[in-house]
Amino acid sequence: MNVIPVPAEVVPDPSVTFTLRPDATIRSDSAFLGGYLADLLRPPTGYALPVVEVAGAAIELVLLPAAIEGARSNISGISDFPDESYTVEVTAERVTVRGRTEAGLFYGVQTLLQLLPSTVDARTVQDGPWTVPGGRIVDRPRYAYRGAMLDVSRHFFGVEVLKRFVDRLSRYKMNVLHLHLSDDQGWRIAVDAWPRLATVGGASQVGGGPGGHYTKAQYAELVAYAAARHVTLVPEIDMPGHVNAALTAYPELNRDGVAPPPYTGVDVGFSTLGADLDVTYTFVRQVLEELAALTPGPYLHIGGDEALSTSPEDYLAFMNRVQPLVTATGKTVVGWHQIGAADREPGRIAQYWGNTPDPDNDMRAALAKGDRVLLSPANRVYLDMKYDADTRIGLDWAGHITVRTAYDWDPATLLPGTPDVIGVEAPLWTETVETEADIDLLAFPRLPAVAEVAWSPQPARDWPAFRARLATHGPRWTHWGVGFHPDPEIPWP
Ligand code: ACM
Repeated sequence: MNVIPVPAEVVPDPSVTFTLRPDATIRSDSAFLGGYLADLLRPPTGYALPVVEVAGAAIELVLLPAAIEGARSNISGISDFPDESYTVEVTAERVTVRGRTEAGLFYGVQTLLQLLPSTVDARTVQDGPWTVPGGRIVDRPRYAYRGAMLDVSRHFFGVEVLKRFVDRLSRYKMNVLHLHLSDDQGWRIAVDAWPRLATVGGASQVGGGPGGHYTKAQYAELVAYAAARHVTLVPEIDMPGHVNAALTAYPELNRDGVAPPPYTGVDVGFSTLGADLDVTYTFVRQVLEELAALTPGPYLHIGGDEALSTSPEDYLAFMNRVQPLVTATGKTVVGWHQIGAADREPGRIAQYWGNTPDPDNDMRAALAKGDRVLLSPANRVYLDMKYDADTRIGLDWAGHITVRTAYDWDPATLLPGTPDVIGVEAPLWTETVETEADIDLLAFPRLPAVAEVAWSPQPARDWPAFRARLATHGPRWTHWGVGFHPDPEIPWP
């Protein structure tokens, strides 16, 4: 049983094996999922696998009317997320996946795909037999928020790349994609009230390439694609620092009325919105309103990190005016943990990106104020850190991060006290990341490692077992076209 993330409960039945046969059918209570599963299984098996209406199919996807006995999620932040629990029951006759919600059923299907031989991930016909080990799995996530962040500002990535990234996240039961949509190097989302943000502010990137931006139609298409895979988009506009791209587009956002040139380097901390300018708040309010209208999910991320050109007084004045603007859109504030210094907005989430065993004063303030906490410890889950000195891209300011380093920690004990941890997110900053192959190299295998940290109960996971399971996923990634880092601690086949 090589499932990642490792399920909460597995009861194997070694006397039983299910084999998918050429005449098998699929029946699904979810119209999307029946087709989704058939589309994935038909190419490698070569079977027709019709999706039928009559019960008794070889694969049954069942939406339950009520909670699954013993499988109900009991996790922080549950009100923002559906019940994601599921069961998979494998007998000689059939595989039955049950969930109380579409999300739960989707995760059960992911588990089923991983119970099949790894050749199921090929897109051309492979030899069977297509067996699934007998038994029963009862599973639900440890944390409600299981995410990754992609920085599309330092280097821009088109919607097709993001869709494939969503696919990869969802195969490992991750349910949030946080998009870092603005920074000094580029503004990546169209805003009708301020059109030059995208057309001028989005026209470059690190190294001076053409950059780019998402139209509202493209962004909506991505939102819908992700939603079908139970991935929520969390859009970030980083403020009050990291705003050079916006300042290049609109001279009036600058205190001296002069637009700076585009920035194509990788330094941080040199730009700021004027906390004392009225236009700043008109700008922020209109941007947030348009972003909220594009966002069915509950969160808007307002950055707040590395505002090194903003005085501490201005930072507090800015954040204390801007956080209520988020709330006014009906969304919940998320910010890098420096927002802990500002007043607490109801339900606020502080994203901890610290690099030491001890949280800094801003994080201590967030904890003291009772903020919900999203864990992104830089020395554990920053996917832009190199694996080792030889990694061909990446940074190392938070250290080298091997697969084991990314895996071998407990979110419950990272911070002092008993913080209200809603989950874990792995950020991928793209100063050195230029292509989809670069994304894949840094994300695999660490992304599946973080997925297990966020999903699986602590007692169910340990490094030796994870290492062995992870090794069997290498061939799957190869079938996906993902060029991954062959971490030397993993016994790859
Ligand atoms: C960050 O890495 N500046 C949040």
